[in-house]
Amino acid sequence: MSDVPDTAEKTLRRRYPDHEWTPLAARTAHVHRLHGDPALVVKTAPRPAGPDPGLDLATEAATCAWLADQGVRCPTPVDTGTLDDHQYLVMTAAPGIPLDGDLPADLREPAVDAVARATARLHRLPVTACGFDRRLRVTIPMAQESAGLGEVDLDDLDPPRRGWDVTRLTTELLTQARLIGREEVAVCHGDLTPGNVLIDPDDLTVAFVDTARLGLADRYSDLALFTRDLTGTPGFGPAAADRFLHHYGEAPVDPQRLEFYRLLDEFR
Ligand SMILES: Nc1ncnc2c1ncn2[C@@H]1O[C@H](COP(=O)(O)OP(=O)(O)O)[C@@H](O)[C@H]1O
Ligand SMILES: [Mg+2]
Repeated sequence: MSDVPDTAEKTLRRRYPDHEWTPLAARTAHVHRLHGDPALVVKTAPRPAGPDPGLDLATEAATCAWLADQGVRCPTPVDTGTLDDHQYLVMTAAPGIPLDGDLPADLREPAVDAVARATARLHRLPVTACGFDRRLRVTIPMAQESAGLGEVDLDDLDPPRRGWDVTRLTTELLTQARLIGREEVAVCHGDLTPGNVLIDPDDLTVAFVDTARLGLADRYSDLALFTRDLTGTPGFGPAAADRFLHHYGEAPVDPQRLEFYRLLDEFR
């Protein structure tokens, strides 16, 4: 993604002239922290072309507003909309340091335990209160649509699937979906990665960000992505991933179900 400010960012810079803008990320969206009062974070991105709500900032605003209503710590949306061909989201800055950021080394293990407990609490929210649906009846057709549109990045597959083509990925997805049985439906973050959880170093309180894929799904969808990414995060590794599962309370772990949700994640 280019570093040149898009139309939405240019307009918002005029709207928040007294804040100091610092870039945080420029992967799928341009993300800036706005230092000032109040402390804000701004995301801008091209309007999404495909079906993935993870790229839709209006959905991110709606999911984080809902999550905050449930008493879960996350940003409060301040403003969202579109300007020309770009969408934007202005939200409050959540307190804390991302788990993959510069957390003091002695806080890494307690932080993993805190994220595990916060994830378990998230998964215990009442499912009837949640109107965002990310169950397989939604996400598998979406995966097939992405595959059909040529949006699967075959150069970025996880090691067990390196070199596979889209047909093989899709066939395996549909086969495994039949084998894993009923979904254990819970309110899930949907993109639970170390960068999307912030830890307050003072009291280890956890805040969730980047919530656009939040919704009802098998709890294993969160466990699969978080343990995969924590294993590859410098300073953490496989022991930290095991620690997360232990403090979450998942014993025994179902490795086939973990692998199924990592396979599904290849499609976005
Ligand atoms: N509201 C927020 N408060 C504090 N930090 C945030 C907030 N939103 C995003 N961040 C930080 O910016 C990073 C990138 O934002 P994110 O929404 O995760 O975008 P992406 O993963 O698409 O690059 C996050 O990993 C997090 O560290
Ligand atoms: Mg993120």
